[in-house]
Amino acid sequence: MTTSALSVDGLAAGYDNGPVLHGVSLYVAPGEVVAMLGPNGAGKSTTLRAISGLIRMTEGQVRLAGSDLAPLSPSARARAGIAHVPEDRGLFRGMTVAEHLRLGPRKEKLDADAAYEYFPALRAISGRMAGVLSGGEQQMLAMARALARKPSVLLLDELSLGLAPLVVERLLPVVRTYATEHKCAVLLVEQHVHLALGIADRAYLMASGVSSSSYDAHVLRNDMTLVQASYLGGPEWASEFEDESKLPFIGEEAQE
Ligand SMILES: Nc1ncnc2c1ncn2[C@@H]1O[C@H](COP(=O)(O)OP(=O)(O)O)[C@@H](O)[C@H]1O
Ligand SMILES: [Mg+2]
Repeated sequence: MTTSALSVDGLAAGYDNGPVLHGVSLYVAPGEVVAMLGPNGAGKSTTLRAISGLIRMTEGQVRLAGSDLAPLSPSARARAGIAHVPEDRGLFRGMTVAEHLRLGPRKEKLDADAAYEYFPALRAISGRMAGVLSGGEQQMLAMARALARKPSVLLLDELSLGLAPLVVERLLPVVRTYATEHKCAVLLVEQHVHLALGIADRAYLMASGVSSSSYDAHVLRNDMTLVQASYLGGPEWASEFEDESKLPFIGEEAQE
């Protein structure tokens, strides 16, 4: 078997007010798109932050192409090939599209042409400030900025936040194409379960800071009961329907 681009083993992490992750294990192979699904508060964003080094882990291991990332700062992890597009997109209102694609968050030089190749629509608006862009354009820019660093591992946190499903339907296939063409390992956190499983190879379910073993995306697509259980129950992945408001956007009809 080839070495995973990213592997996480028994990860525990949290914040000043207490632990959040109690045992997250996952891997992503080069060129693979892997979804992480689960309800609000499950610890998905926290997992991505621990991988990119924004928060410190208390137990476990995170490896990039087999090398332990623990000693590396967030900047060093970024230089090593990890790109993280956070929930808030991390853009600067007063900076233009072109400026965003010229210099990275840590002053690294970016390959704007590589980014425009995947998001040609950004070329026409390259002189505009990020603050005046639509939500969809901002998300394109956030992703383009990550791609412009030619990452080997791409962490995407809820691309769809605040976007119309139609926009999400256009953005996600770009992720798939990029992963395949650049052998990039993508870990995708996404509330639009159907859309995520539509482009993913595999998925992990997450609840209460614990990850499941992985499932083939087509298995979950054909049988949503497992996904539903993770949204409604605890780590045992099967529980009673306690809070229907936590249900994910599972079907087309639930997306309105
Ligand atoms: N910056 C933070 N400081 C303290 N607690 C946080 C912070 N971010 C998230 N948490 C807590 O960690 C838990 C997991 O949150 P998060 O990883 O954001 O979940 P998800 O992304 O799956 O919705 C929640 O209980 C949340 O309140
Ligand atoms: Mg989150």
